[in-house]
Amino acid sequence: MKKLWAGRFKEETEKSVEQFTASVSFDLRLWKYDIEGSIAHVKMLAKQKIILKKEAGSIINGLNEIKKEIQSDRFRFHDSLEDVHMNIEHALIRKIGPVGGKVHTGRSRNDQVALDIRLFLRAEIKEIITLIGNFQKIILSLAEKHIEIIIPGYTHLQRAQPVLLSHHMLAYYEMLGRDSERLEDCLKRVDVMPLGSAALAGTTLPIDRRHTASLLGFSKISENSMDAVSDRDFVIEFISASATIMVHLSRLSEEFIIWNTGEFGFIDLPDAFTTGSSIMPQKKNPDILELIRGKSGRVFGSLITMLTVMKGLPLAYNRDMQEDKEPLFDTVDTVKSCLFTLIRMMPKVRFNREVMEKAAEGGFSTATNLAEYLAKKGLPFRDAHRITGSVVKYCIEAGKTMKDLTLTELKGFSDLIENDLFGSLTLQASIRDKKSYGGTSKKRVIARIKESKSRQ
Ligand code: ARG
Repeated sequence: MKKLWAGRFKEETEKSVEQFTASVSFDLRLWKYDIEGSIAHVKMLAKQKIILKKEAGSIINGLNEIKKEIQSDRFRFHDSLEDVHMNIEHALIRKIGPVGGKVHTGRSRNDQVALDIRLFLRAEIKEIITLIGNFQKIILSLAEKHIEIIIPGYTHLQRAQPVLLSHHMLAYYEMLGRDSERLEDCLKRVDVMPLGSAALAGTTLPIDRRHTASLLGFSKISENSMDAVSDRDFVIEFISASATIMVHLSRLSEEFIIWNTGEFGFIDLPDAFTTGSSIMPQKKNPDILELIRGKSGRVFGSLITMLTVMKGLPLAYNRDMQEDKEPLFDTVDTVKSCLFTLIRMMPKVRFNREVMEKAAEGGFSTATNLAEYLAKKGLPFRDAHRITGSVVKYCIEAGKTMKDLTLTELKGFSDLIENDLFGSLTLQASIRDKKSYGGTSKKRVIARIKESKSRQ
């Protein structure tokens, strides 16, 4: 296939070089945005009288025909034409003749590809934000439905203090909220129109970049042509925000994997979201969650890839930047599919209330309540902590729980202990009394659910 840039070359490109440099096998994914961008560009060129209205009309018709061909799988992309941009332009010229070549007036592939990625990412970020919102809604309804369930809260994966299952789940609601904010913020930097920066320096043609931007629904245009064609900060930002999303999804997966073990037995994963073993007939494995945990690695890898691709590049465009697409696409696909799968699985998880509450009862999980009881009676917290520690030691040695102790036994540890202590050592009391803002008291958790629901 004759290259559109072949003018100054004597020799043909070697086949292996064509294959090595071609990106169309993956950047064809940008075709819709490439056509959308070209149509806006051509409209602007006509408005500015840089090309004739009639010429713009036939270019736009040609591009729309190409769009239909691609949609109905009748379009052939060729490696020898390098990338999606050249493939479409080449097809346009074949279709409508040399006038098709006017589409590239006042732009270059450098600003064109930057535009396409921005259009692509703008749409994808919005979809991911919607998915995150859906996931948050599911978490809220689970929190509402299971508001009575008490589980052990852990630190160091050791039972620490009882908490509401809803409180635990709402922690993920908060994480996802920050994920969404990060993406919204990133969107501001994506929402900048680079076209018309041309190769790197701008153009001598009287283009109207603001017009192109308004046709494409961008709120800003780039200020510096060299920056515009060599900026991939927004890709790095997006992948970084995605890496954080994956950290959250991976942590949730890890917890559910642990909770689903025979040893914990806190939850049962739905059959439809688990897989069997080829040798051990009894197995029901949490592979979906394991894959989500594992896939976080791809996104972290993509972040490192992008940082590394960009870090040594002199201004302005360098071909290294073609390496941005695969990590970007892979990140989009990974984050979306993980969110999608969790959204489908979550409502079907069974929470085993009795097992959870039994676990919450053990491990002296209300010991801190005793310490705080003493602190409320005026004892310095350090002393209260030490005394409670010796109560726990005594219980372990005597094979008792704190609730088994008599008042006389307890008085042996501190005179401040009265009968009213017993009321504050139950799981329910422990939850009820954690009224501090952001704490696990039922009242507080219900208020947060309400507040969050009204903002969804
Ligand atoms: N396929 C290229 C990329 O993705 C398009 C820009 C090519 N520009 C150039 N001067 N060779 O980066």
